[in-house]
Parts: sequence; structure tokens; C-alpha cells
Amino acid sequence: MILVTGATGNVGSEAVRLLADQRLPVRALVRDPARAPHGPVGIAVGDFDRPETLDAAMRDVDTVLLVSPAVPAQEIAVIDSAVRAGVAHVVKVTSKASADSPVDRRRGQARIEAHLLGSGPAWTLLRSNAYMQNLLALAPMIRETGGFVMSAGDGQVGMIDARDVAAAAAAIVAAPAAHAGNTYWLTGPELVTYADVAEELTAEYRRISPGEHREAMIRAGVPEPVANSNAQAFGLIAEGDAAWLSPDVESLTGRPPRTLRSFVAEHVAAFQTSSRTSPDSRAISSGQTGFENR
Ligand SMILES: NC(=O)c1ccc[n+]([C@@H]2O[C@H](COP(=O)([O-])OP(=O)(O)OC[C@H]3O[C@@H](n4cnc5c(N)ncnc54)[C@H](OP(=O)(O)O)[C@@H]3O)[C@@H](O)[C@H]2O)c1
Repeated sequence: MILVTGATGNVGSEAVRLLADQRLPVRALVRDPARAPHGPVGIAVGDFDRPETLDAAMRDVDTVLLVSPAVPAQEIAVIDSAVRAGVAHVVKVTSKASADSPVDRRRGQARIEAHLLGSGPAWTLLRSNAYMQNLLALAPMIRETGGFVMSAGDGQVGMIDARDVAAAAAAIVAAPAAHAGNTYWLTGPELVTYADVAEELTAEYRRISPGEHREAMIRAGVPEPVANSNAQAFGLIAEGDAAWLSPDVESLTGRPPRTLRSFVAEHVAAFQTSSRTSPDSRAISSGQTGFENR
């Protein structure tokens, strides 16, 4: 049995769908049963903050696909529950984590990774570049103003559709033994900038500094530590930190990853504008940060 956590999110929902399509035994961990995936899928209702629900979800599980907002205490609780249940392999979705990163979120991921590597089960790490799905957070601002504010400068990003992260993860958890101890780097097929994003969306890219972005996010109600991490991450992107590509999606899945153009074509309705006014950094509101909102 494969347990997928975060099964209502970008990666988890698609991974569950792909595994169910292959008729593999899969169980989805969800907080809200009303939002549980459909199809031939087991459902475990649980919460990362309630270890007893995790232990119930782990029954008969061999492999865990660990996806979450990556709060260290929560992912560590899942790993500890997996160890108690005798799970053989944990596949963890992560980012460009390191213990000395200036970005708090990446240091948190590094703590989780270190815990996993010292826990006993076999492990596989999926280190992803930024998700195209983050762009959907910009959609309200684009619809309202015809453009978006962003502090990533002209930094290139090997942006990946989260569904390709899910496809890579599904391929691994379907036959995990061959991937034990491996770290994969997951990216889209090309390096893109936010100017390219603007062009694809026929939207205006209004460049602001990471400091201005941080202030705008805080004004919009994004919690300060999250605004700090987001602004730091965008500043790093501007410096070239996300300008990396890898062939790993295609070698794991047998298919090239989706392009930005195909992502935009599939989501065009979300970005469509009714009446446009001038883009304004003051127009940023909660959920329009273009990045993770945790
Ligand atoms: N976004 C990026 O650009 C990016 C880039 C590289 C790596 N990553 C990594 O990708 C991962 C996030 O993946 P994602 O985008 O698929 O996540 P997501 O769409 O934000 O989904 C998060 C999932 O976690 C669930 N969840 C949240 N709190 C929970 C709790 N207390 N108990 C149980 N479930 C809970 C959510 O359930 P509800 O639906 O109930 O809220 C949801 O299913 C993180 O590790 C992140 O670091 C992201």
C-alpha cells in the first residue's frame, strides 16, 4: 500500500490520480473527507498535527509519498509514524534545501531531510524547481490590473508543472527499490523569466525589489515569516539561483516535462481579464504573492 500525504494539493492530488489509474493500491491522507480524491483510492482522514491519525493512516503501508507545506514538526511527525509502522520507503518532495540557506523554508526542509535520512526507512528525495502552479496565485491581480508585481528581476527559472513532479513521484513509488538513496532534481524543459511569463500571459510585469515585495505581502496579510522567505527566495531567483535544468523528469517518466506555454494554455481562463486598470503594487492582496503562502 502506498500512502500519499497532501493528497488535496498540487502534487499529491495528481500523484493519487496517476497511481489509481495504474490500479496500484493507494491511500490518500486528507484533512477533509469532502475534498478526498475520487476513484479507486483508499481514504485516511488525518492531520499532521494529530499523530494518532497518522498511525491509523500508516496501517499496511509500505511506501509513503510525503508532500506537505513542509512545516518541520509536521513532516517529522509523519516520518516518525512511518518508522513506527515499519514503512520500507519514504519518498519526500523537497526543494533546493540546505542547512545554511538564507531562506528559512529551505533550512526547514534540510532539517526534515536530515531526520528522514537518519530514521531507517529507505528514502528518495525529489528536489524541485519552482512550480508553474505558483503563477495561479497571480491570477487575481492579473485579472484585476492586467499585470503583476514581482521581485524576481530577470532571473531564469527551470519552472516545472507540479503535475510533472507528481508523475516523477508516481513512477518512483510504483517501484521504489531502484530509487533508494537517490536524489532527483526536477525541472521543466526550459529556463524562463517572469518577463517570459508576462509575455505568455499578455500581462505587464512590474518589477519591484524584494524589500518592496516583502512589505506588499505583509500589507496583504501574508504572515511576516512567510513574506520574508518569499522575498528572499525571489531575490535569490533574481541572482540566478533557480536557473537550473535537469533531465530527471523525462528519465523517470519517459516523457518530457510540460512547457510554460502548455501550462498557460490550459489555465488561460484563470488569467483572463474583464476590465483592466494600471498594475499597482498596492493591488497585491492575500494569496497574490506568486509563491508559497505558508
Ligand atoms: N511551490 C513551489 O514552487 C515549490 C517548489 C519546490 C518545492 N516545493 C515543495 O512542494 C511541497 C508542497 O507541494 P504542493 O504544492 O503539492 O502543496 P500544496 O498544494 O500546498 O498542498 C499542501 C497539502 O498539504 C495538506 N495539509 C496542510 N496542512 C495539513 C495538516 N495539518 N494535516 C494534513 N494535511 C495537511 C493540504 O491539505 P488541505 O487541502 O486540507 O489544506 C494539501 O493537501 C513542499 O514541500 C514545498 O517545499 C514547492
